[in-house]
Amino acid sequence: MESSYRPEEAREVLDQWRLQRRSIGFVPTMGALHAGHLSLIERAKGENDKVVVSIFVNPLQFNDQSDFDNYPSTLEQDRTLLEDAAVDLLFAPTASVMHPMPMNFKVAVGPMAEAYEGYYRPGHFDGVATVVAKLLLIVGASRVYFGEKDIQQCSVVRRMVEEFHFPNRIEVVSTYREEDGLAFSSRNVRLTASSRRVAPLMYQNLQKAAKSIREGQDPSFVINSAIEEVATVAKEANVDFQFDYVDLVDETFGPVAQFSEGLRIVAAWTLDGVRLIDNLSV
Ligand code: PAJ
Repeated sequence: MESSYRPEEAREVLDQWRLQRRSIGFVPTMGALHAGHLSLIERAKGENDKVVVSIFVNPLQFNDQSDFDNYPSTLEQDRTLLEDAAVDLLFAPTASVMHPMPMNFKVAVGPMAEAYEGYYRPGHFDGVATVVAKLLLIVGASRVYFGEKDIQQCSVVRRMVEEFHFPNRIEVVSTYREEDGLAFSSRNVRLTASSRRVAPLMYQNLQKAAKSIREGQDPSFVINSAIEEVATVAKEANVDFQFDYVDLVDETFGPVAQFSEGLRIVAAWTLDGVRLIDNLSV
């Protein structure tokens, strides 16, 4: 695996591949790699001649300084995982290389960034869009892979790529889960033993809620029951449970009251201060 830390180093390798007419798949990450990231890489390996992974903990997308400070960093372990996954190039820039100061430009996302994650994490999607735009310009991949786990991120990136006429194809990969249903996330390592036991309940209960909604039950009633069940178990386990939102949405991330095709339940909650998100189709 080749490694590069500066855009110009990465471009040298990438230009060679393009000259050889190799297709390039790209998986942007913030590191602390887990099986969810590896499922994106595996898909990219299957569809491209060369696969590039970036690792960059993007300060612009953290609205909470302590979340940024506590974000796990495991670069050497990540490198081994990437070698084992037969990744061809690791691009791991520093913050000063990625965002030279003073910063004069940022991508400003419109109203689609105001709901759900955008509401609870002000500035988050501007930060994501800005770094993804830079990464796409540096890597110039044919296909770029994102996880459905961050469904709103997928739709922001898709829309940006359309509006800015980026030439890249965005591919969305389904959420990779632990056996008990908990979505893999870099934040899972921060869960205590008891909050880890409570963590999968949200997805498990929302799956049941989705089934009841399909069968015609009232969405807000079944979603509220699902939340209450999580709250009860969390209380018994002495785990602090708070939720930001659990809602039925359509593809524009507007709330909906009634079942129709193509809806999803989106959820964000915290267990003992560790914030988790998930979503599932109804
Ligand atoms: P990060 O959280 O490291 O995630 C990198 C990619 O892995 C994202 O596309 C995310 O949706 C995907 N992913 C995470 N957990 C997953 C799971 N359990 N199953 C499937 N895919 C999963 O998302 C980011 O980084 C950043 O916002 C980034 C796009 C890199 C921009 O900084």
